[in-house]
Amino acid sequence: MESEKTVLITGASTGIGLATARALCGTGYRVILTARRSSLPRFAARGIEESVHVRIRPLDVTKPEERLAVLAEAERDWGGIDVLINNAGVSYRAVVEHVAEDERLAQMNVNFRSPMEMIRLVLPSMRAKRAGRILTISSVGGMMAMPTMAAYSASKFALEGAHEALWYEVRPWGIRVTLVQPGFVDSDGFQKVRYTAESDRSEHELAEPYHEHYVNMSPFIAKLMRMSMATPDSVARVVIKTIRRRRPPLRVPATMDARVFALLRRIVPRSMYHWLLYRMLPNVRTWGPSEERISLLPNRADDGER
Ligand SMILES: NC(=O)c1ccc[n+]([C@@H]2O[C@H](COP(=O)([O-])OP(=O)(O)OC[C@H]3O[C@@H](n4cnc5c(N)ncnc54)[C@H](OP(=O)(O)O)[C@@H]3O)[C@@H](O)[C@H]2O)c1
Repeated sequence: MESEKTVLITGASTGIGLATARALCGTGYRVILTARRSSLPRFAARGIEESVHVRIRPLDVTKPEERLAVLAEAERDWGGIDVLINNAGVSYRAVVEHVAEDERLAQMNVNFRSPMEMIRLVLPSMRAKRAGRILTISSVGGMMAMPTMAAYSASKFALEGAHEALWYEVRPWGIRVTLVQPGFVDSDGFQKVRYTAESDRSEHELAEPYHEHYVNMSPFIAKLMRMSMATPDSVARVVIKTIRRRRPPLRVPATMDARVFALLRRIVPRSMYHWLLYRMLPNVRTWGPSEERISLLPNRADDGER
């Protein structure tokens, strides 16, 4: 019975999380909508308010004390979490050389380490009930990597590996584990992409060796998102359908492109797949420090004269 189940979702104040939050509020579930404290006013602005079945709580997923507080309250009042939806995520745009250690940690903290901690904290109660659902929003970036998205892909690949192990581990208690994998979604998500100190500089400086990587990949990704038929609402529908399935599979591609990439990964030999993808990268032949291009830059010409 949905009315006796409690669902908690992270990062519910925008995008896929907000769309899922709206959809959840219309079901019979008891729902705990969470977001960073500074983002909480967005719920009221979107007409979402607390009720008997809906609670809105602050949760920065990277803060241990906030994780413990929201889960302790759920345990005390509603007997724990039955369905955990790990949605909160951020995305850095940078080539490997441009991600400093603290930036890599920031990416991994939100996208990998925090959802794994949430899982660790809800599992004892799920095991005691011999039931539970863990649904984490992964990405096509968790099945394939693209240039300038190394840190993001690493975080999603890490989620994929950990959830695969978890799927086997908790099956004896009837706990179902699912990775929902959206591809490109027509949302604000990639506009809110974060640049690292180095990638920000390189995108704007013509003489930087990786300049062409950024100026070609950024509009390419933006275009793929704009062209996508998938929206936060369509992904939210997949999420709701998945948590209602009796036996949800480990991986659920949530958009058409995700289904195509999943199929390609299965049927095309890996070396051919990488070669094909490389050839499809926008203007890839111009990437790297072409001597001709560098020689046309004013500062380099000045250097030569000195
Ligand atoms: N959009 C896409 O094309 C796409 C594709 C594949 C996968 N995904 C995945 O889908 C999920 C949702 O992304 P989206 O597209 O809906 O992007 P979004 O609109 O940027 O939403 C991300 C949400 O995560 C929250 N968040 C970020 N850091 C947080 C933290 N430390 N603690 C708690 N919440 C935090 C954000 O809250 P604030 O507003 O407070 O920052 C926001 O509500 C992510 O896991 C993303 O990787 C998205």
